[in-house]
Amino acid sequence: VAKPTYVSRTGEVDLSVAHLGAGLLGLPLLAQGEQVARLLEARHRDGVRFPDVVVEMGRRGSKTTSVWSTIVGRAATRERYRAVMTAQRGVVASRIVVEHANLMIRAGHAAEAKDYRAGGADVPLLYRYAGRETIRWPNGNEVMAVPPDPGAIRSAAADDLVIDEGGELDPLRGQDFIDALRPLQDTRGPLAQYVLMGTPGKVRAGPFWTMLERGRARTDRDLGIADWCIRDEEDADDRRIWRRVHPGPSSGLTPMRVLEKRYRDGGPIAFAREYLCRWPADATTSAIDAQAWAAAERPTVAPPAWCGVAFDAQKDGMAASISAAWRVDGVPHVALLEYRPGTAWVARELRRILAVHRGVPAAADHIGANMPTVEDLSRGRPKVLVMAPSFKQIMGATQTFVSRLPAHQAQPDLERAVAAATWRDQEGGRLFGRRKSTEDISPLVSAVVALWAYDSRPERRPVVVMSA
Ligand SMILES: Nc1ncnc2c1ncn2[C@@H]1O[C@H](COP(=O)(O)OP(=O)(O)OP(=O)(O)O)[C@@H](O)[C@H]1O
Ligand SMILES: [Mg+2]
Repeated sequence: VAKPTYVSRTGEVDLSVAHLGAGLLGLPLLAQGEQVARLLEARHRDGVRFPDVVVEMGRRGSKTTSVWSTIVGRAATRERYRAVMTAQRGVVASRIVVEHANLMIRAGHAAEAKDYRAGGADVPLLYRYAGRETIRWPNGNEVMAVPPDPGAIRSAAADDLVIDEGGELDPLRGQDFIDALRPLQDTRGPLAQYVLMGTPGKVRAGPFWTMLERGRARTDRDLGIADWCIRDEEDADDRRIWRRVHPGPSSGLTPMRVLEKRYRDGGPIAFAREYLCRWPADATTSAIDAQAWAAAERPTVAPPAWCGVAFDAQKDGMAASISAAWRVDGVPHVALLEYRPGTAWVARELRRILAVHRGVPAAADHIGANMPTVEDLSRGRPKVLVMAPSFKQIMGATQTFVSRLPAHQAQPDLERAVAAATWRDQEGGRLFGRRKSTEDISPLVSAVVALWAYDSRPERRPVVVMSA
């Protein structure tokens, strides 16, 4: 069952207004709609518990409908109420208002204004003022679209301000826009709310990202959050995670079949962003959480006789690493065996290690900087066969590594590599990248490949003696 990864606690909340609103739209209030409504409708003294609310949910998860259920319910039950709806582009705001008005019309709970003479209706009417489409209730309450400019919004001063498709807001101009709206909130009544919702944008910046970060950190008591997102370390291919993160399958709105199709059509990176709410990685995105890494530290970690061994060279060959990896009752362990400048030493040192750890699997990514060593090992004596993971296997191994961080001893070179590692999106998945080109993550990469080598051959093969 889907549940938000980050969500503000509310306790018991009366959801009757949201249920009423959903009924006016002719739709049931689904579990995610109830969750959003709890956030919006939570009360504190004579006002709302959260004057600011941020909602992140995958595409077609029903975020717009969820928020609208409560907004329409308020318009139907409060006095002198106005909600203003906007988005990065005015046409989007207009479309959303018209779409929801049409739902109400179809359900028999609203009508087109052009079909009535002024004052003649006892149901809400849709006025198609271009760019300011408005649903107006008989008592004067309004839900209206407004173009995304601070002047227009100021003149339409409202109780609730709802900004949809927050990920589409321009990182810079969008922030200016929100900043210009801030003063409006100083004079709001205790029931007024500012709601920003959407799916991730193209960069980790801008008002939506900033508000999500604040919400996730729980530092602002006035900010409520409901955020159905995958965590950075989680595997975007794991179908169980899809079910947890996207409210579609468990609510019956978007079946897994549809998600699988979106995955095939759009590719894994776009799918993870739009349906699992994974924000694109950038130079500030640590691949490995520092606290989680520290939690896997042990006083001493020494490789047993049977382990996987791998080497990796820094891109320009300035330095190289050799690591060992193994499992104890399934728990991954890694150790950095050597880290030195240059690469000329690697083949010799690897032979020495393999003389101690006899017959264990040795591996390296067959990239440029590793090739001289691979060749040396295949030609010189004793001959060493170096397994090469495919591109896909490296991505899988990297995900395996971050999904369950290995036990390790504190080693400065490994610690530095872990701290420097960022995510680099690739066709079909992601790999480690480095924050700055001067940093070397080879101690980490060699550990990932060593664990892959171990997992490919986790046990010593029994020696079979054939006799004639
Ligand atoms: N409770 C419901 N019952 C039936 N259909 C629903 C319900 N809620 C939403 N829908 C429909 O599912 C579709 C997606 O809903 P909605 O537009 O609210 O999702 P969204 O998360 O805002 O999507 P997007 O990211 O594309 O904006 C819409 O066609 C909507 O009418
Ligand atoms: Mg929407």
